[in-house]
Amino acid sequence: TSDIRDELTEILVTEEEIRQKLQELAARVDADYAGKDVLLVGVLKGAVMVMADLARSLRGHVEMDWMAVSSYGAGTKSSGVVQIRKDLDSDLTGRHVLIVEDIIDSGLTLSWLLENFASRGAASIEVCALLRKPEAAKVQIDCKYVGFDIPNAFVVGYGLDFAERYRNLRDVAVLAPHVYS
Ligand code: PRP
Ligand code: MN
Ligand code: MG
Repeated sequence: TSDIRDELTEILVTEEEIRQKLQELAARVDADYAGKDVLLVGVLKGAVMVMADLARSLRGHVEMDWMAVSSYGAGTKSSGVVQIRKDLDSDLTGRHVLIVEDIIDSGLTLSWLLENFASRGAASIEVCALLRKPEAAKVQIDCKYVGFDIPNAFVVGYGLDFAERYRNLRDVAVLAPHVYS
């Protein structure tokens, strides 16, 4: 069979829960950035779904830019080695930057990105992450907008991949161990 659902053990966050949560977060972003133009920076590729849905729930003006970094490759564990595959098109000088991520796992990717962005002269830098795994944290990330804290399981869907697959699932689900072990 090739049904993706046979390769999952549990739905962790449903499409509807994601939709509701992103609306709440978008309302907070609109309020916090009232009167300011925001530059949303999506971290490719995992953040594409969050970026698309968060951005469309906002009422205020935003620009969108993308940074492509990767620390996982085809494995299930973060290597801690962050590679830039595509840099921003925008100059961050004086900008209010909101980094949009699908998940904070070890925190190494965002820790590296925050340090990198801090040197580019932004007026402010905040983070919005749909998911966070508190038990997996190797570094603490100051994340202003968090969707859900989840257990330390291997999750896929809604942008999150295993070996580049499963990103197109509408829910966030736990990958069955037989798939990756
Ligand atoms: C994943 C995820 C986050 C990061 C989180 O990206 O999308 O960007 O790992 O892990 P960390 O907190 O342990 O650093 P990945 O490197 O797999 O690239 P992708 O977004 O293209 O899947
Ligand atoms: Mn990513
Ligand atoms: Mg990945």
